Amino acid sequence: MENLPMEAGNPMVDPMHFDRWAGAYERFRPPYPDALWERLRDLGLMMPGKRAVELGAGSGQATAALVEAGLSVTAVEPGPNLAGRLRARLPQVTVLTGTAEEAELPEAGFDLAVAATSVHWLNLEIVLPKLHRALVPGSSFAVWRTAFGDPTVRTRFRERTGQIVGRRRAAPARPGPDELDTAGWVRELTAGGLFAEVSTDTFRWSIVLGADEVHGLFSTFSNWSAAEVEEATQAVRDLGGSVTEHYVTPLIVVERAAFP
Ligand SMILES: C[S@@+](CC[C@H](N)C(=O)[O-])C[C@H]1O[C@@H](n2cnc3c(N)ncnc32)[C@H](O)[C@@H]1O
Repeated sequence: MENLPMEAGNPMVDPMHFDRWAGAYERFRPPYPDALWERLRDLGLMMPGKRAVELGAGSGQATAALVEAGLSVTAVEPGPNLAGRLRARLPQVTVLTGTAEEAELPEAGFDLAVAATSVHWLNLEIVLPKLHRALVPGSSFAVWRTAFGDPTVRTRFRERTGQIVGRRRAAPARPGPDELDTAGWVRELTAGGLFAEVSTDTFRWSIVLGADEVHGLFSTFSNWSAAEVEEATQAVRDLGGSVTEHYVTPLIVVERAAFP
C-alpha cells in the first residue's frame, strides 16, 4: 500500500518519487470512484464558482473533476514534472510549484481545500493554520486517499503482493496513522481546534488491471522498489494476464472552525 510519510534520506519514503514517475503517474493512477464525487456534491462542496485550493495535486487525478464541476482551482504541487503536466492538461488551473508548507495562499481566498491521497505527505502543524487563514469562514477541507488493496478482500494477486511486501527487511517508522485509520486522521485534522469533523465515509470499489497497468501503477508507489514491481507484474502474468483489484477510498471532511 502507498501509505508512507516523508522521511529524510529514506528512498522508500521520498516525496519526489512521484515526480520521477510523472509520466506513469498521469497514465496509470486510477481516477476516484463516482460515489466519492456524489458525496462531495451532496455535501454542497462541488458547487460551480467555488474557489478550491488543492494540496499535492500531482498530475490532476482529482483536479480534473473539480474543474469539470465548475470550481476554480489553485493547485499546489512540489514536483516540477507533475506541475508541468497539470498545467498542460488543465490550463485553467493556477499551479503553484512548491510544497503546501511553503505555499503563499491569500487570506480568505478559498471556499474549499482538498488533499487527494496527499495528506500523509503534509506537515499538518504548518498546513492546518495556513489553510485556516486561507479559507473563508464556514468552508471545508476534504481529505481522501485510496488504499491500494482492500484488507477485507482476499485475492490470489493480493496473496502474491503480500509475500513481496512481507520480505521487506523493515518498514520505515511511520509517524502518522494508518491509511484506513479514519478516526486517527480525524484526530490529526482536528488537533488544535482549527477544524471540526463534519463527516467520514468509506468507498470500496474495484478495477481490472492488466500486467502493463500493474507495472505502471506500482511503479508510482513510493514504497515499491523496481524489483518488487517486476515481481508483481509477473504475478499478474502468472494469474492469466489480468487481476481484479479491490480498493478503499476513505473521505474525511472537516470544517474550518470560527475560533480560535
Ligand atoms: C500520491 S500523490 C497524489 C497526487 C494526486 N492528488 C492524486 O490524487 O493522485 C501525492 C502528491 O503529493 C505531493 N506532495 C508530496 N509532498 C508534498 C508537500 N509537502 N506539499 C504538497 N504536496 C506534496 C507529491 O508530489 C504528489 O504529487
